[in-house]
Amino acid sequence: MKLTLRIWRQSSADQPGGYQSHQLENVSPDLSLREALDQLNEQLISCGERPVSFELDCREGICGSCSMNIDGTNTLACLKSIDEVKGEVKIFPLPHMPVVKDLVPDLSNAYRQLASIEPWLKSDKDAPEGEERRQSPEEREKLDGLWECVLCFSCSTACPSYWWNSDEYLGPAVLLQAYRWGADSRDDSTDERLYALDDSFALYRCHTIMNCAQTCPKGLNPGKAIAGIKSEIASR
Ligand code: F3S
Ligand code: FES
Repeated sequence: MKLTLRIWRQSSADQPGGYQSHQLENVSPDLSLREALDQLNEQLISCGERPVSFELDCREGICGSCSMNIDGTNTLACLKSIDEVKGEVKIFPLPHMPVVKDLVPDLSNAYRQLASIEPWLKSDKDAPEGEERRQSPEEREKLDGLWECVLCFSCSTACPSYWWNSDEYLGPAVLLQAYRWGADSRDDSTDERLYALDDSFALYRCHTIMNCAQTCPKGLNPGKAIAGIKSEIASR
């Protein structure tokens, strides 16, 4: 099949960008959008043209690197099948983020915010000698719908509150992580974590718009996790 990819091209952060259309011939319907971009790059390189910059690593929806906006929806290019697109496919970097190059967004602020919630297990006790820290099946179940997040930031960059307040509002991806660590029965710092989150900008800029849940390529619900944090804070 033939495919037209209308792609945002921007040679560097300080240059203006714009859409460029590229035609692809003989595209197999079994390909993912990420593979179609690879095919396009081979074509561009063979014609002596600059290939499209985009990030990828795992190629199977685990690393979260290849998130981009495809036909108006933030998603992972490696999980988006060519079967799901028709006609001209518009491909744009994650919205409302500075662009490093073409489809590569600058996520420095989001990563700084992620580090600020200390996304790791904090325990006062050592693990039992030679053993793992154990959880009951019920305790483990509380992490379902949270641990699967691959930090692609599709949700944060689909959230209007995050677009306008990303300097102070933590956004759905980071807040889902904050909830995930606070909900872990092996973590001893839940109170401390909730205290740090109880802030009119960092947390309460979420107005339950729910774009985050609609766009998540892993089918998660960050809005629900944020509601969980608010309710934990209210119950203390
Ligand atoms: Fe944004 Fe999701 Fe809240 S879209 S406003 S984080 S429910
Ligand atoms: Fe890893 Fe797409 S390349 S999620």
